[in-house]
Amino acid sequence: MSARLTVPSVQGRKVRRGDVPLVMVTAYDAPGARMADAAGIDMILVGDSVAMVVLGYDDTLQVTVDDMAHHTAAVARAKPSSLIVADMPWMSYHVSVEETVRNAARLIRAGAQAVKLEGGRKRLPMIEALIDAEIPVMGHIGLTPQSVNAMGGFKVQGREHDAAMALADDAKALAHAGCFSIVIEGVPDVVGQLITDSIDVPTVGIGAGSGCDGQVLVFHDVLGIEDRVLPKFVRRYADLGAEGVRALGAYADDVRTGRFPSAAESYHVKTPATETLGLYGSPTTLG
Ligand code: KIV
Repeated sequence: MSARLTVPSVQGRKVRRGDVPLVMVTAYDAPGARMADAAGIDMILVGDSVAMVVLGYDDTLQVTVDDMAHHTAAVARAKPSSLIVADMPWMSYHVSVEETVRNAARLIRAGAQAVKLEGGRKRLPMIEALIDAEIPVMGHIGLTPQSVNAMGGFKVQGREHDAAMALADDAKALAHAGCFSIVIEGVPDVVGQLITDSIDVPTVGIGAGSGCDGQVLVFHDVLGIEDRVLPKFVRRYADLGAEGVRALGAYADDVRTGRFPSAAESYHVKTPATETLGLYGSPTTLG
């Protein structure tokens, strides 16, 4: 097991200084976290995308702090070397600074080393309070899925000059407030590059082009477990959904035709010498 990546070690990573790009993937449970860790992923994001890719909702607005703490704890139990970042769900950092800090603390106590929240300058009071409470914060700007209703859909952001400049100003404000890294989602590649060049903390892109200091993708998209219509920025590296259907179909077939279980997959009685008490207290022999 390699040493866990820390927030300070991520904070200084910039491609323009010669660093290797950061790799982040989402995970929502222990097996997913173990796979990400074994693959040498730098950071695991317990994303609120769990709402869509695991829990079957149409957007991310339905998950709560309880849900996120439950999934964060499952990821943390795998004890990955990857840095664990937990998403703050919608409405967990919008009502008051006090509620924000308490909600983030629950995710840290569940096993995250940092939290991520969406939005630009208007989130500064919450971000400053979190950092003051020693909770590292990753920002998230551009296409922020929790704003799906305000944005009128999952739409690419920053296409116009003024909107792109406003995003760069947001990024500078978040970095200045102390965010150790910023996710940039769903912006033109030149805007991803502009923002990355404007700040000294690493940017992690998703649909933001190749100019960011790292990339993040959703676990189920990378592995082809989902069959939803994929955004153009997703590259699928496996087709585990189809492979899973094939395997489950083969299992069903074997059960129905009597090929499963085989003798090797069954327990057998032993010779009388190893006689033991059976489940219900009567002498029996087990193999
Ligand atoms: O929840 C999530 O998966 C995310 C990524 C898209 C960055 O926030």
